[in-house]
Amino acid sequence: MRLLSLSSWLAAAVLISCAFVVSRSFLREGIQNSNSDIETINKALRKSHGDPPVFAYWISGTGGENRRIIRLLKAVYHPRNRYLIHLDAGSTADERTELARAVRSERVFKAFGNVDVMGKSYAVDRTGSSVLAATLHGAAVLLKISKDWDWFITLSSSDYPIVTQDDLLHAFMTVPRDLNFVDHTSDLGWKEHERFQKIIVDPSLYMDANAQSFFATETRQTPDAFRIFTGSPWVILSRSFIEHVVYAWDNLPRKLLMYFANVAYSVESYFQTAICNSPQFINTTVNDDLRYFVWDDPPGLDPLFLNESNYEAMINSKAAFARRFIGGDEVLNKVDDQILRRSSNGVSYGKWCLGREEDISETGSEDLCLTWGDINLIEPRPEGKELRELVAKIIERRGCV
Ligand SMILES: *[C@@H]1O[C@H](CO)[C@@H](O)[C@H](O)[C@H]1NC(C)=O
Ligand SMILES: *[C@@H]1O[C@H](CO)[C@@H](O)[C@H](O)[C@H]1NC(C)=O
Repeated sequence: MRLLSLSSWLAAAVLISCAFVVSRSFLREGIQNSNSDIETINKALRKSHGDPPVFAYWISGTGGENRRIIRLLKAVYHPRNRYLIHLDAGSTADERTELARAVRSERVFKAFGNVDVMGKSYAVDRTGSSVLAATLHGAAVLLKISKDWDWFITLSSSDYPIVTQDDLLHAFMTVPRDLNFVDHTSDLGWKEHERFQKIIVDPSLYMDANAQSFFATETRQTPDAFRIFTGSPWVILSRSFIEHVVYAWDNLPRKLLMYFANVAYSVESYFQTAICNSPQFINTTVNDDLRYFVWDDPPGLDPLFLNESNYEAMINSKAAFARRFIGGDEVLNKVDDQILRRSSNGVSYGKWCLGREEDISETGSEDLCLTWGDINLIEPRPEGKELRELVAKIIERRGCV
């Protein structure tokens, strides 16, 4: 926050005083244009047996991405869930203030108080371990600000959901809450030499601005004190596993963190290695991340950008999220229209929204979520029911490979 320009100091002061929790304090301000919403809001999130789970989303982005982050947030929004957004040091203080203001000005976020913006930005280099440090801090903050959530889900600004939250909540309703969805393999291939035997230094861990990592000239041996697993950085982790890595009563997660500080792309290996080397958690591991990607042949560092030509395959993949998208791509509008039933400015439709299609022509608003019902009720689409069957099938195989 030292880089603040004078013009934004006032707004920033608000940000700082709320620390990372921006939206919750606005709950108390009351709702200006309320109808019968107040009663609905007071209807607390129910967390008993048979209720849907709660997801905690960690959404990360950088400078120039506010619009797409807000769009993604609205696309994955459900009043039962928690959301924590982080703009890294590639963003300006003004942008972070603007993001916090945008979140605050959204009536539904304000009413349910479940969206928070990190007041502090971290320098991040995804090649290095600074991105892992930021993710773990996000997880720690989410543990602290909410006792309710069951799973921690990582998303970046170039991701988008391809099912509704009602679908996803329905799919996870019968999943044992201690399972972890982590794409992984112990077959390191070329990565053994290129990643685990090299030593990388990530200046974003100790500099204010995003900086590029560099390799040391020395190399080192592949570890034999634990077995390395690697995979996708996009994970769905149980609350108990997040507690395991954040509190680290067992020493392994901490030791691994120190080792992985100098491993390239450690965010693709840390969770994998921590879970697969832990007797307590190894058998809670499901080798699937429920994401849809398309890789070039041979695969590049990142998956290909998806567009309308990928729509059918993407939908048929039965994944929950897809990446990567170019901001504002036409295919996202299609997802909004056909899957999420999201108006251009509204949040994604769910059973908790009381608006009906019939009302659209009457009110002139296309937003079905202007009035709210019971947030504990969900209604999956047929695709949501299929997703549940698929998830039930993939969780039969547990353990690390
Ligand atoms: C995990 O499950 C496998 C197969 O059921 C079993 O052989 C193994 O002992 C389990 N590991 C732990 C640590 O419980
Ligand atoms: C969609 O992506 C594919 C593969 O990346 C590309 O070949 C194609 O030209 C793209 N189509 C459009 C409409 O942008």
